[in-house]
Amino acid sequence: MSQPLRKVVFPVAGLGTRFLPATKAVAKEMLPVLDRPLIQYAVDEAVEAGADTLIFVTNRYKHAIADYFDKAYELEAKLLQKGKNALLAMVRGTLPGHVRAIFVTQPEALGLGHAVLCAKPVIGDAPFGIMLPDDLIWNGSGKGALRQMAELGAREDAGVIAVEEVPHEQTEKYGIVDATPIDERSARIRHMVEKPKPADAPSNLAVVGRYVLPPRIFDLLEHTTTGAGGEIQLTDAIEALLKEQGKVLAYRFEGTRFDCGNKAGLVRATIHMAMQDPALAPVVREIAATL
Ligand code: G1P
Repeated sequence: MSQPLRKVVFPVAGLGTRFLPATKAVAKEMLPVLDRPLIQYAVDEAVEAGADTLIFVTNRYKHAIADYFDKAYELEAKLLQKGKNALLAMVRGTLPGHVRAIFVTQPEALGLGHAVLCAKPVIGDAPFGIMLPDDLIWNGSGKGALRQMAELGAREDAGVIAVEEVPHEQTEKYGIVDATPIDERSARIRHMVEKPKPADAPSNLAVVGRYVLPPRIFDLLEHTTTGAGGEIQLTDAIEALLKEQGKVLAYRFEGTRFDCGNKAGLVRATIHMAMQDPALAPVVREIAATL
């Protein structure tokens, strides 16, 4: 697995029910943290990791994501005419020139594993990334989480999965790994299980939304039957990869993860980002002082 990471898959066909009614009309990946939609944070992280081909696994309701990364001729012409160069650069910068976006559809919502499998025809024979944009991982001016993982995967010739400790009572919300520590950030995964009850969980080390995997995972996904929640689970295919002696590492990334798949996480991320902005930090402090 020593090739660089060029392709990243974004499964974005979910319904976003936790943000209804907004998600009746707005894809949850388009919800903003300050002025940028969640998907932009993920795309920036993928590009920073070296990706030049982004594959969005989408559905008929998610046209806004394709529109967002498309060229906005009218808007650009207006901004150009008015000399609003900073705004123009921002609008053009959603996808850098050397990066291409590919859209594939997931015709039915059959689970994360199935969504990833929809990208098979586009991936080829090199290791690739998977990013779940709900998990916003922020590492300030340091290396992004996916880049950290891509470098480790290339060095160790292994798959890499981002993990984080979660409260034991929350294991039912995550894929959980059983892993043998290598150093303070990485561990070799022995076993993985999707959404176990706390009593059955092998640990409290949870998978968060970043993966670097070999294309072999597609053959395994093709043979993966429905698992937790009646869905085709990526975790089960990774477990099959482990069983055939695939080397997969769990990696505690450097950075802070915000679970923007729920309201509390989105609020946390928004406040965190506002505190990084010199114009907004005093506003947050002022509000906090009045609470
Ligand atoms: C998915 C994965 C799960 C992982 C989680 C991270 O679950 O199936 O293993 O821990 O993402 O966000 P979902 O949140 O889609 O139910």
